[in-house]
Amino acid sequence: MQSNLLKQTIEQLFSNGKGILAMDESTPTCDKRFLAHGIPQTFEMRRNYRQLIATTPGLNESIGGAILYDETIKQQTNNGIPIPTELLNAGIIPGIKVDMGAKALAGFPNEMITEGLDGLRERLADYKNLGARFAKWRAVITIGDGIPTKTCIEANVQALARYAALCQEAGLVPIVEPEVLMDGAHAMQRCYEVTEQTLKALFIKLYQYRVDLQGLILKPNMVLAGKESDENPSVDDVATATVKCFLSAVPAAVPAIAFLSGGQSPQEAIQHLNAINKNYKDRLPWIVAFSFARAIQQPCLEAWKGQDVNVDTAQKLLYHRAKLSALARLGTYKI
Ligand code: 13P
Repeated sequence: MQSNLLKQTIEQLFSNGKGILAMDESTPTCDKRFLAHGIPQTFEMRRNYRQLIATTPGLNESIGGAILYDETIKQQTNNGIPIPTELLNAGIIPGIKVDMGAKALAGFPNEMITEGLDGLRERLADYKNLGARFAKWRAVITIGDGIPTKTCIEANVQALARYAALCQEAGLVPIVEPEVLMDGAHAMQRCYEVTEQTLKALFIKLYQYRVDLQGLILKPNMVLAGKESDENPSVDDVATATVKCFLSAVPAAVPAIAFLSGGQSPQEAIQHLNAINKNYKDRLPWIVAFSFARAIQQPCLEAWKGQDVNVDTAQKLLYHRAKLSALARLGTYKI
């Protein structure tokens, strides 16, 4: 019964070439982005911004689901409509970020462990009552001198597996996000190896914790060279490395992979996703879609500047970026 419900939610999220919009920045992350654009960092401004997104005309043509943050799922529009209801009325399924953030892993300098398992069963029930149909948990893996350690990967994939099992018990689709960061000067090959190692460890753990692979969504990084590296792989090189890595590590039972953008420019993220689908569509056992935050929101946030007079322009930019992402999902985006 539960597994039918999960499958149905996944089908709806990705129907007609759609993908997922991540709008679940935690308050500190959202405030950091507001600060960079001179926008006041208040509860009300965050509500205004999330309202702008949720009321963007036509957004559901490209977006099947939107991931919210704890603050946002409890906020309302100017008309008193809860944000998750506003989204649902627009044909967009609300989801919720449920991890409590990545914290320093004691004894392992520069490595992180994501927290939030305590009380998660009860929080999932509360979020379900608020309208959430899926959830997200992000683990962070850092590449550097001598890292990631096996301990860091193991600790993080175990937390992801326990989270995913609790979500499925609650009837919520878990988005399982092991993000290998782009930060650093490492080569693309190093990203390939760490991503493959992390994904293999993840799927062993999901199996051990009896997670139904057909009832989850994987949200990974693409295989990229480090942000500070001199290497400049072509769009097709990134697509080829990414596909090779995922074919070697992700079981075909997984219905969908929805990439994060991870600090790539909106153009890069969309071009890479497009090349994966365009060049390899017939070889991929999964839907390969997007769950972008910055790659969809960035131009919109820049145009909004926190001012009502810019809402219309900002919404048009959001609509446009979402549309291009959906074209890339089908491999039909043209520069
Ligand atoms: P980016 O697309 O900005 O990387 O964000 C995706 C996300 O939800 C990170 O958890």
